[in-house]
Amino acid sequence: MRFSSKQIHAGVTPDPTTGAILTPIYQSTTFVQDSVDSYLGKGYSYSRSGNPTVRALELKLAQLENGADATCFTTGIAAITNTMLAFLNAGEHAIVSDVAYGGTYRFCTQVLNRFNVDFTFADTSKPDDVKEAVRDNTKLILTETPANPTMKCSDIAAISEIAKAAGCVHVVDNTFLTPYFQQALDLGADLSLHSTTKYFDGHNATVGGAVIARTAELDERLRFHQNSTGSIMSPQVAWLTMQGCKTLSVRMDHQSANAMAIARYLENHPKVKQVAYPGLESFAQHELAKSQASGFGAMMWFEVEGGLDAGKRLMDSIELWSLAENLGSVESLITHPVTMTHAAVDKAERERVGIIDGLVRLSVGLEDKEDLIEALGKALENV
Ligand SMILES: Cc1ncc(COP(=O)(O)O)c(C=O)c1O
Repeated sequence: MRFSSKQIHAGVTPDPTTGAILTPIYQSTTFVQDSVDSYLGKGYSYSRSGNPTVRALELKLAQLENGADATCFTTGIAAITNTMLAFLNAGEHAIVSDVAYGGTYRFCTQVLNRFNVDFTFADTSKPDDVKEAVRDNTKLILTETPANPTMKCSDIAAISEIAKAAGCVHVVDNTFLTPYFQQALDLGADLSLHSTTKYFDGHNATVGGAVIARTAELDERLRFHQNSTGSIMSPQVAWLTMQGCKTLSVRMDHQSANAMAIARYLENHPKVKQVAYPGLESFAQHELAKSQASGFGAMMWFEVEGGLDAGKRLMDSIELWSLAENLGSVESLITHPVTMTHAAVDKAERERVGIIDGLVRLSVGLEDKEDLIEALGKALENV
């Protein structure tokens, strides 16, 4: 099956007892066993260790990203923390994109560092920097591409080669593009990680996470930690996410077309100092973005002439766009990463990697692009 057929049908079979076309929400803590000797005969015992609704979503996600299997977590950050716990031991070292979601940075610098795990935050857009950062005890490389919020892109295939040579796992946070636009495992990554909160859900309804693994052995380690840390996704969330999955390609196509139109509008606006969208020819890594993904997604940032004060005025006054965290939903959102999503990153580090005070992040939704552009134009008039 091709992608759009898979996003609807993979992992789903009509309910054997009723014929219901949608996988039911198995809202049950425990599963009754036929006998002691046939324990787990039907595959389930207790919903922290496994649940049929969650399993249906895992099978769907594994097929969408051409993986051996997938494991679903309570949140995107739980997918990240469990991956690090699964593949790092005390005394070991990991390389993480120096621009990554703020929560990833916080977990490395305020939690896992306390357990004697060492991190290098490298500019993964430069494979040579990643190569140089590799140590004898490096066990994991985490690449977020495009990165939140700078949009910096990293060469997945090149970093996968480095990881392979170093004998460590390469994890790609593929949240911004999803497998519809970027097949991280086909490009060489070992694990493709998602905050399903974003595009897979797409409707601002849930928080969730998933990791799709290249091999069953890698998945097994994640599943062990999913159970050990009690981080499994809930059946309600899995069910809602599954419904979101069915329209992923349609939403991604439409949202990225909206984003392209908005990026061009902003690029030509006299009050806009700079725009970063991988689809623009002016974007530093436009060629890399084009070569490893089939679309540019619907995330971008821009800076208004007048910097932080002007940006704040725009964000406080804009209509139609909601001033909010989250991204990837049908509703268009506007975010100030410095005070919202990346507040956990210290100022010096933020500035070093390009998260400037005046950066305004856009998550372009499914509204009519003309309405979105009109609202931006009106807000720009006020600054
Ligand atoms: C790229 C990326 N990865 C991971 C996360 C964390 O996901 P969640 O908020 O579902 O925990 C986010 C959240 O914004 C993100 O943008």
